[in-house]
Amino acid sequence: MSHQDDVFISTFRAVLLVLAGLAVIFIIVAHYLDTRFNESNTGQSAEARAQLLARLQPVGRVHVAGQAMPAQAAPAAPAKPKILTGEQVYHQVCSACHATGALGAPVFGNKASWAPHVAKGMKVLFQHALHGFKKMPPKGGSDLPDQDIKNAVEYMVSHSK
Ligand code: HEC
Repeated sequence: MSHQDDVFISTFRAVLLVLAGLAVIFIIVAHYLDTRFNESNTGQSAEARAQLLARLQPVGRVHVAGQAMPAQAAPAAPAKPKILTGEQVYHQVCSACHATGALGAPVFGNKASWAPHVAKGMKVLFQHALHGFKKMPPKGGSDLPDQDIKNAVEYMVSHSK
């Protein structure tokens, strides 16, 4: 064998050794990762796993018309829309005009200024508060739920007659 062959063989052997070593390392790492993350070995409580699975659920699924709805994970309990009290809505929104009579708004607590409005009946007042009336903007310019606005009307009227 020539000297060149010797060099080749020893280099080749070294490369094979390195590759074999790497393979062993990969096997060890893979085994470690497997035991570390494999579901059965994580030592996670069933509850923690259920929560994890819930987080991994897709946000939505495509529903093709005419086909059965794809099975869906039970949606998280919907946040109940928070209904504010009339007093809260009044202070947040309505007082901007109704505390001072801005734009000619009937003034909170002032019987005389509310009397002609109250005379229309609550049904009309609700409608006008919800949909606007003259310079009174719909919902006072807010986007609160209808019920909040009705609560506010009741609050203002009951304190002004
Ligand atoms: C930008 C000012 C403004 C805000 C904010 C406002 N209002 Fe008014 N509101 C008015 C004005 C002005 C009138 C008087 C309209 C008229 O009769 O000319 C009025 C009148 C009303 C009336 C009597 C309507 C009628 O038919 O006589 C009700 C009820 C009412 N507002 C409820 C509310 C409620 C509830 C809120 C809060 C959610 C609110 N308003 C917020 C300006 C406002």
